[in-house]
Amino acid sequence: EKGDFEHFMLKEIFEQPKTIEDTFRGRINPEHTEIVLGGLLDVLPKILKARRIIIIGCGTSWHAALVGEYLIEEYARIPVEVEYASEFRYRNPILNSEDVVIAISQSGETADTLAALRMAKERGATILGVCNVVGSSIARETDGGVYTHAGVEIGVASTKAFTAQVTIMTLFALKLAKENGRISSGLYLDLIKELSEIPEKVKSILVKHPHIKEVAAKYKDAINALYLGRGALFPVALEGALKLKEISYIHAEGYAAGEMKHGPIALVDDNLPVIVVAAKDHYYEKIVSNIQEVKARKGNIIAVVTEGDTGLTSMVNDLFEIPKSHPAVSPLLAIIPLQLFSYYIAVMRGCDVDQPRNLAKSVTVE
Ligand code: M6R
Repeated sequence: EKGDFEHFMLKEIFEQPKTIEDTFRGRINPEHTEIVLGGLLDVLPKILKARRIIIIGCGTSWHAALVGEYLIEEYARIPVEVEYASEFRYRNPILNSEDVVIAISQSGETADTLAALRMAKERGATILGVCNVVGSSIARETDGGVYTHAGVEIGVASTKAFTAQVTIMTLFALKLAKENGRISSGLYLDLIKELSEIPEKVKSILVKHPHIKEVAAKYKDAINALYLGRGALFPVALEGALKLKEISYIHAEGYAAGEMKHGPIALVDDNLPVIVVAAKDHYYEKIVSNIQEVKARKGNIIAVVTEGDTGLTSMVNDLFEIPKSHPAVSPLLAIIPLQLFSYYIAVMRGCDVDQPRNLAKSVTVE
């Protein structure tokens, strides 16, 4: 039931402090010193020896996979590739028993993802699942896996399932890093603590929804929008753009900010909203240059920034602040204002937010 909320999507956005917590609770010991992923116990030695990890998915789940790629390579130093399940299944990939293929799927029923997994299994790879729906086809057919505990997601536009998937990717990356000795115990403990603080930080973003709504009102008649990010915030830009296009039908593109010069900058004029995910991390200076490039061409900049970062105020039209956090967990915060921004724009445009045209919650046919 929707309770006091006008739409399931809004309810699900507001559930995220709880669903993120439900997803890591039980996977972090009470002392906050150890990560336990029960569903991976049997396959952990295989994962640690893997030649590479391939993560597959579609749509939002593919974006969560990209965040996973950044985190696993950064902290565990195991090579990771991310592929659209729909491409992977048809392109005759080189796979053997040294490969681990992980499917991310909220429903656990996506036809392309399931078919890609079956193909990988036939070729000898170890196959794992990160699913939300318990007992779903992907969950049943895999050699191991971890459930996201997001609860039932009804809105066609995925929100709480995404943050739950990213939470699992974070736990998984840290677990692998700890097991293969690539992370110092100090950083490991710090990052577990950072993750455990995310639910409170998400709450502090959600209470600012009136501001996000006001900003949304300014841009509701846009025809196009460009989303930019770098590092693990690049997939957040992709996910922000996907949310806007699916529910408001505004054409939106997500881009790695460094790619701007190679094409999309031609789109920038005084009509184009450019949403830049510019939280403080080691890409920050680079993203500030990208903001300057957009500003010089009179684009309207909406920046997601770290609280207290006043340096950007004069450069941008609007700001969404997120609490300070370690870059490893900031995707979980940066996506929240972008979900709300899309939601309010879609509502103001009179769109059917929970059931956008032409889309189904679970894509069980190709
Ligand atoms: O159930 P899955 O996670 O496998 O679904 C994958 C995509 O169909 C899904 O994420 C879709 O892109 C959503 N509408 C995104 O909001």
